[in-house]
Amino acid sequence: MKAKTVFVCNECGYESAKWMGKCPACNSWNTFFEEKISTKTEGGKKEKKVEQVPKPLNTFVGKDAKRTSTGYQELDRVLGGGLVKGSLVLVGGEPGIGKSTLILQICNKIKGEGKVLYVSGEESAEQIKLRADRLNIQNEDILFLGETDIDIIDEQIESIMPKLVIIDSMQTMYSDEISSAPGSVSQVREITARIMKICKSRQITTIIIGHVTKDGNIAGPRVLEHMVDTVLYIEGERYFSYRIVRSVKNRFGSTNEIGMFEMQEEGMVEITNPSSILISERDDNPSGSIVVATIEGTRPLLVELQALVTQSVFGLPRRTANGIDYNRLTLLVAVMEKRAGLGLGNQDVYLNVVGGMKVNEPALDLGIILATASSYKNVSIPKGIIAMGEVGLTGEVRTINMIEKRIKEAEKLGFKKCIIPENNKKLLKETYKLDIIGVKNINEAMKAIGLK
Ligand code: TYD
Ligand code: MG
Repeated sequence: MKAKTVFVCNECGYESAKWMGKCPACNSWNTFFEEKISTKTEGGKKEKKVEQVPKPLNTFVGKDAKRTSTGYQELDRVLGGGLVKGSLVLVGGEPGIGKSTLILQICNKIKGEGKVLYVSGEESAEQIKLRADRLNIQNEDILFLGETDIDIIDEQIESIMPKLVIIDSMQTMYSDEISSAPGSVSQVREITARIMKICKSRQITTIIIGHVTKDGNIAGPRVLEHMVDTVLYIEGERYFSYRIVRSVKNRFGSTNEIGMFEMQEEGMVEITNPSSILISERDDNPSGSIVVATIEGTRPLLVELQALVTQSVFGLPRRTANGIDYNRLTLLVAVMEKRAGLGLGNQDVYLNVVGGMKVNEPALDLGIILATASSYKNVSIPKGIIAMGEVGLTGEVRTINMIEKRIKEAEKLGFKKCIIPENNKKLLKETYKLDIIGVKNINEAMKAIGLK
């Protein structure tokens, strides 16, 4: 009998009976791979044992109480207060971003009794040992297992019963039950399901490391997210030392919380006051630079925006956005032309967020506009000024959320003047040490800092 096969999209897990060049679900090209469907025919219907009977919900012990600190404040906050016992955490990121490094550091720092089992299908014991030496980790409680067969891993976990299991990485593991190659959607799905069973039934906390595809998603992402409790991403520019750990899903805490680390010679070092490092320490004050306040999760963060406006050499002006949305920049450039009369039609506009941060928040609009206007007019924005506000198509400055938190952060870092939306100012309850200026539109904002 011919084995049944199905074609699966490696990006999103879409299944089709025939091969297709383009996936109808996620529109990616050349992502279909043939996979055999495992059909269990022998035995027929299996008898199922009833192990669990329904019980009243309030007789269960609340799981939230059992949290373990990772040893890093920055990471604990992202997790919602530490690792929850028995939870399954997926950590994604580009190759070389520092996933294995950070997780090995956690293995060393994690509190609580018991061993840590580090399963790697990526690197040999020697390579991990070299990394551990570099990180200055000498810990008898960390056990290493170089294995990719999930059945063997399962047995080892059962005999060791560690407090924490690391799977590095999900894409290198395989199960005999699935005939397709490791890393394919059906393997990854099976592996995750198996690991989930292993860790949930024994209440063992597990961290799975996953690689991301070219658009920054964990391979087979949508099919995995519902299985795990928490999904974290490590972001950052490869040739830039700052790393951001972001939670995109968390059953035990709020999402969009971030933690900041710096990749140094001796591993990842947490940064507990990121605002101070994201603002460049410079004595001179060139045009085109302004500090804005953004919110990441629940935390305010001050970042510096830099704009450069120069005469276009070719007919078509260029717009380049680093760290902010390109379409937002083009929209704001159009607003500036129409509502503030800036002649940007024959100018190239480059915008950059200092420190390799990616910030996509409308509250940055006003800062983007002021930085661009400052570079265009070649007039510096005085130091000690911070600006925030969403800008609409008519050039109006609209209200933003969590204004008090942002102002307080600016106050803490010694800023003197704060440009905010007029409607936000009206609602402020507290008084602040810094000078607060409410503006209704971008022209008022430009006047307030001497750009008009
Ligand atoms: P790694 O954790 O192996 O990345 P991933 O598991 O996400 O693929 O990190 C690899 C990079 O980190 C590598 O380019 C070297 C750098 N690194 C340091 O800068 N300092 C260190 O202490 C370590 C261990 C790595
Ligand atoms: Mg690695």
